[in-house]
Amino acid sequence: MHSKQNYCIQLSLALAFGAVMSAAAVDLSKLPPASAQQNVTFAKDIKPLFEASCVRCHSGEKPKAGLRLDSLEAVLKGSKEGKVIEPGKSADSSLVVAVAQIDPETAMPPKPRAGRRGPGGPGAPGGAGGPPPQGMQGTNSPGGAPRGNMPPPKPLTAEQVGLVRAWVDQGAK
Ligand code: HEC
Repeated sequence: MHSKQNYCIQLSLALAFGAVMSAAAVDLSKLPPASAQQNVTFAKDIKPLFEASCVRCHSGEKPKAGLRLDSLEAVLKGSKEGKVIEPGKSADSSLVVAVAQIDPETAMPPKPRAGRRGPGGPGAPGGAGGPPPQGMQGTNSPGGAPRGNMPPPKPLTAEQVGLVRAWVDQGAK
């Protein structure tokens, strides 16, 4: 009797765990569709996007994740983990999933420190966001440009992600 009950509990735990696991998987159907543009090339179409949003971190001597995005060869070579592009298969390319930002874990460019901004939208009553406390050391001096830190790079738009997909699907030339 008891052992049968235990079995049931284990089974439902396993099922619940499975559900959690699949909920965590990335939903590739959320990828923006590939652009219909023909003859998409790295030099002509993709490099400018990467230069605007990626090479700040992914170039030079010590690129993030060992991944350089400033030349076609470097992109095809991939990161220290391996390939980030599967030519011909954009949905299997981790770089495509990253720029589509459908998975917060891998979204690129990285989101500026999660949490800070908060939901902000409707239903955020005035109460919390009162006037900034004055006299807390002049770190964010009003009017001055933020020192050192450049503004965070923009995420790619859905059209740009579609262009990256088209480029990969067309063989990543
Ligand atoms: C602010 C710096 C920064 C910018 C900008 C940035 N990345 Fe990254 N990228 C990182 C860091 C840091 C990692 C390592 C992430 C980790 O391990 O959590 C990474 C990892 C990656 C990876 C995974 C590599 C692997 O195999 O582990 C890909 C793909 C990637 N970036 C692509 C891009 C693309 C494409 C862009 C531009 C759209 C971009 N990144 C912009 C910092 C950046």
